Amino acid sequence: MKTRKFFLFIVLCFAIQLYPLSLSANERGDIVSGKNGMVVSVDKYASQIGIDILKKGGNAVDAAVAVGFALAVTYPSAGNIGGGGFMIIRFPDTKESVAIDFREKAPGKATPDMYLDENGKYVRKRSYYGHLAVGVPGTVKGFELAMKKYGKLSWKEVIEPAINLAENGFVLNKRMAKSFNSLKKRFKDYKEFLRIFSRPDGSDFKEGDIFVQKELAESLRLIANNGSDAFYKGKIADLIAKDMEKYGGLITKEDLEKYEAVIRKPVTGNYRGYKIISMPPPSSGGTILIEMLNILEGFELSKMERYAPETLHLISETMKFAYLDRAKYLGDSDFGKIPVDMLISKKYAESIRKRLNLVKAIPSAEIGKDILTIERANETTHYSVIDKDGIAVATTYTLNGGYGSGVVPEGTGFLLNNEMADFNMKPGYTDNKGLIGTKPNIIKPYKRMLSSMTPTIITKDGKTFMITGSPGGRTIINTVLNVIINVIDFKMNIQDAVDAPRMHHQWMPDILRIEKEGISDKVLDSLKNIGHKISTRWRQGDANSILIDPKTGIYYGAPDKRSGGTAAGY
Ligand code: DON
Repeated sequence: MKTRKFFLFIVLCFAIQLYPLSLSANERGDIVSGKNGMVVSVDKYASQIGIDILKKGGNAVDAAVAVGFALAVTYPSAGNIGGGGFMIIRFPDTKESVAIDFREKAPGKATPDMYLDENGKYVRKRSYYGHLAVGVPGTVKGFELAMKKYGKLSWKEVIEPAINLAENGFVLNKRMAKSFNSLKKRFKDYKEFLRIFSRPDGSDFKEGDIFVQKELAESLRLIANNGSDAFYKGKIADLIAKDMEKYGGLITKEDLEKYEAVIRKPVTGNYRGYKIISMPPPSSGGTILIEMLNILEGFELSKMERYAPETLHLISETMKFAYLDRAKYLGDSDFGKIPVDMLISKKYAESIRKRLNLVKAIPSAEIGKDILTIERANETTHYSVIDKDGIAVATTYTLNGGYGSGVVPEGTGFLLNNEMADFNMKPGYTDNKGLIGTKPNIIKPYKRMLSSMTPTIITKDGKTFMITGSPGGRTIINTVLNVIINVIDFKMNIQDAVDAPRMHHQWMPDILRIEKEGISDKVLDSLKNIGHKISTRWRQGDANSILIDPKTGIYYGAPDKRSGGTAAGY
């Protein structure tokens, strides 16, 4: 019966010709090809620095760390030394891969109810802005660990370009000038922030202004000379701890001293003969990505029209079930057992497939009783790197919200994250308005908050095939899914796969979000008719990706036009 309905549905869709409009050519990012190296990031300075490092004889890890430090200067809304993130590295000779976890941790004095008022009500502002919102940063330790284990160049060599950019300044583009100018209201109470992100006379920045950050240059110089000790034990640690004490934050010098980045085993899966290598807990990214791919593997996506309603419906329902699992099961695996193996098993995917309704949207409330999510600002950043030997690096790192907590510890010149907002805020309390209270992601001292970041490397027949990832809070995993199926199932080239309209369902709220450009109203109406609540949005994510042609070995760098990314290759 179900099959018959599904068949009728497909016929109907074809009959009314529900096809996507494609993006016009001049709106596409510029794809770049190369044989020796490729770096794709959100920022042209950072991408160029990555390539310079490769040309100098550095490997992809050197380049990735140099890009990370550069973005801390040129893309301060997300690039950072005061935040955290994840890096997946794959080595072609051994075919081994590692995941570097430099996610922030809760401070030692953090408590499960630290964002609740005396009536037990969640005070959102407290978890997003100011000193209480800050998790113990991980980026500097993470980069140092990557360099010590896998880098070829010296630590100083990979930080030097960032120091120069901070010391001598760089030219603000229109997007950045606008972004800085828009912050004065949001961060009006943050003196240091305003001092750094305003012109001295308080007037607005203009495109073409040179943006100099002397204090940041000094912090970077200390890190270059003294290693991560400068940040976690030395002068910078002192400045952070002092600021925390002065303004009611929790992070102490001991917290900073105790912080360690860790090397984890990536989570892996197989999708139609491709190997997916991605981030394990404390990110939910890799696990949920592989769960969704496993579910979709049971359908012949390649025979379906990419933007026909039945395709969007199937993908949306898959996302809905997987995100319910994200909410139920995922958290920091150092603080409790996370059933990753079960969630990424083909058997489990089969059981979910049996529960899908292929002709009607199942209300989210019907498949589970918890959770609803909080909108995140669109600020994190992902970059992809490959070198001449084929070492591949996928890095996603973040301050969480754009410009993080707004806190710049006096004298340091850099922003601290507001990653604490990624924890579940009210233990045991899940509502349909935005709070999740499930146990795996409740705040505990030194625990890492759950992430959605999904830096991912895909191989085929033992060779690296694709490097991808994205910002976008909970949309990240779905952005990565969209790009992967666009390439593997819908046979798009990598730039088209990155450009193509994306969709997102995260179980709760029960809304299917679609990038409107390129999808017809008819398609949207058909989806509404089968029970979807639709919200259209102008952009989802920023998936700066690389594809390696399996036949020629040529690298194709596909920047995401949504944030003006740049590919640099040679
Ligand atoms: O770790 C996470 O999943 C989030 N803190 C990422 C935040 C993000 O992507 C912001 N941009 N939307």
